[in-house]
Amino acid sequence: MTKTVRTCGKLYLAGEYSVLTAGQGAILKHIPIYMTGKIHFAEQYRLFSDMFDHAVDLTPDDDYSLIQETVAVMDEFLQSQSISLSPFSLTITGKMERDGKKIGLGSSGSVVVVTIRAIASLFDVPLSADETFKLAAYVLLKRGDNGSMGDVACIAYEDLIYYQSFNRKKIAEQINELPLEKIVTQDWGYIIRTIHPQLPCDFLVGWTREPAISSVLINQVKAKISSIFLTQTQEEVLRLEKALLVGEKEIVKQSLEKVSCLLLQLSPAIYNEKLRALKRSSRGLDCMAKSSGAGGGDCGIALSFDSEASQILVERWQAAGIEVLYKERWDR
Ligand code: PMV
Ligand code: MG
Repeated sequence: MTKTVRTCGKLYLAGEYSVLTAGQGAILKHIPIYMTGKIHFAEQYRLFSDMFDHAVDLTPDDDYSLIQETVAVMDEFLQSQSISLSPFSLTITGKMERDGKKIGLGSSGSVVVVTIRAIASLFDVPLSADETFKLAAYVLLKRGDNGSMGDVACIAYEDLIYYQSFNRKKIAEQINELPLEKIVTQDWGYIIRTIHPQLPCDFLVGWTREPAISSVLINQVKAKISSIFLTQTQEEVLRLEKALLVGEKEIVKQSLEKVSCLLLQLSPAIYNEKLRALKRSSRGLDCMAKSSGAGGGDCGIALSFDSEASQILVERWQAAGIEVLYKERWDR
């Protein structure tokens, strides 16, 4: 019998770069563009992802190292529950690309979560969103990932969330010292809370068609992160969360503008030409657009408070070569 699971994509609304520092927060939104995992018991292990043109077993393969690492972590996790892994065939599709270009919705985080969910479902082990997050973060930390883990938090919770990061160095160090079970059952010190916005508006995603690599941008930008940047960003992130919860449009617009401005000042690598055009397109309209995530390409987001503004924004984006990747309506 085949089991099917899926995972969404994610985008940052606010808190980029700041959330890399432990204790700082960000707001992320799940994007319902999915990756699917189909899994069934088999004679031998077989892993296939449509990102590559070949399938593998568990023999180390560079292309499949992320998926294979996730399988190894799940093996250890199941063992701690007295379940032993037996061979399966896992097929992952939905590579989060358009025209052969990655769209920047967090495909590496999504591939880890889809693999975790597939294995858990095959062995009938229910996992909460929180356990899924910890296991995914564990895999990424084990691999030396330099991200904040906000992506896997959002993908695991599949919701609009406030995510406050934890001391990743401490957990990464424990990976070599303590059993997995011990690590995943302890309190890591992060905060994840879902946000139910009370703000009628359109949420739009604009894709620049220019792929960017977050880990490269992080290395370029991280030395510029100052304590003032952190304090000011955190203040706006919390203000934004609150304003979304109570539906205060003007505050939402102001805080998005402020965090965007802070990113603009942080490094010229973030707002490249296309993202500047994406942001500029909201001028004079009852909406607010900004870059999302590491920047340098990928996507930007917008909140628009009137349908005419949404239409004009989309037209301006199209004229600037920015594609609407996703659009949804938020109602109270
Ligand atoms: O470009 P994305 O969606 O991978 O976002 C990166 C956001 C950063 O804060 C710059 C890094 C991180 O992992 O939090
Ligand atoms: Mg990105």
